[in-house]
Amino acid sequence: MNPLVYRRARPADTRSILSLINHYSAKGLMLPRSFAQVVEKIRDFNVALSNDSPVVGVAALHVVGEDLAEVRSLAVEEGLQGRGVGRKLMEMCLSDAHQMGLARVFTLTYQTQFFEKLGFTRVEKLTLPQKIWGDCVHCAKFSDCDEIAMVKAVDR
Ligand SMILES: CC(C)(COP(=O)(O)OP(=O)(O)OC[C@H]1O[C@@H](n2cnc3c(N)ncnc32)[C@H](O)[C@@H]1OP(=O)(O)O)[C@@H](O)C(=O)NCCC(=O)NCCS
Repeated sequence: MNPLVYRRARPADTRSILSLINHYSAKGLMLPRSFAQVVEKIRDFNVALSNDSPVVGVAALHVVGEDLAEVRSLAVEEGLQGRGVGRKLMEMCLSDAHQMGLARVFTLTYQTQFFEKLGFTRVEKLTLPQKIWGDCVHCAKFSDCDEIAMVKAVDR
């Protein structure tokens, strides 16, 4: 296979991004996203592409406050996992966070070992600001959320 290309997502990538995210949401590993939720926030997304399959990796950085953003919708095609694709996409998101002058990035995840490798540490969800709960109350898992909250300081 040719080397992967990494770049900022474009509106035309939306269906391919959705296909990857919703593959994992069907397994209960990620939250599902709609076409509108992705295309309207397409500037948040970075992607990895191959010749064979349009989008083989995706990660989004969603700003939730003046110094805080959330990593969302992180996914790598099953056949390409364990080759550094997720790490590269996360580095792109952290670079975006740095360029925006953000202090911290957080995620809600089941993939704690992956995020620990990237320097994230576990925190109590209640330590995350109210703004997040504005999103969480709209989630189907709100009353029974078992995802782990993890935070990383952005290199200044
Ligand atoms: C989580 C996910 C994005 C990781 O992507 P990936 O490309 O396989 O990860 P990488 O190859 O970049 O791994 C980076 C490091 O994390 C480690 N790692 C990755 N997944 C891991 C796991 N499940 N358990 C333990 N370590 C893991 C790797 O071994 C690697 O360590 P190293 O740098 O010391 O070699 C991918 O497994 C995935 O898409 N999972 C399904 C969807 C999902 O759960 N998304 C997360 C939503 S928050």
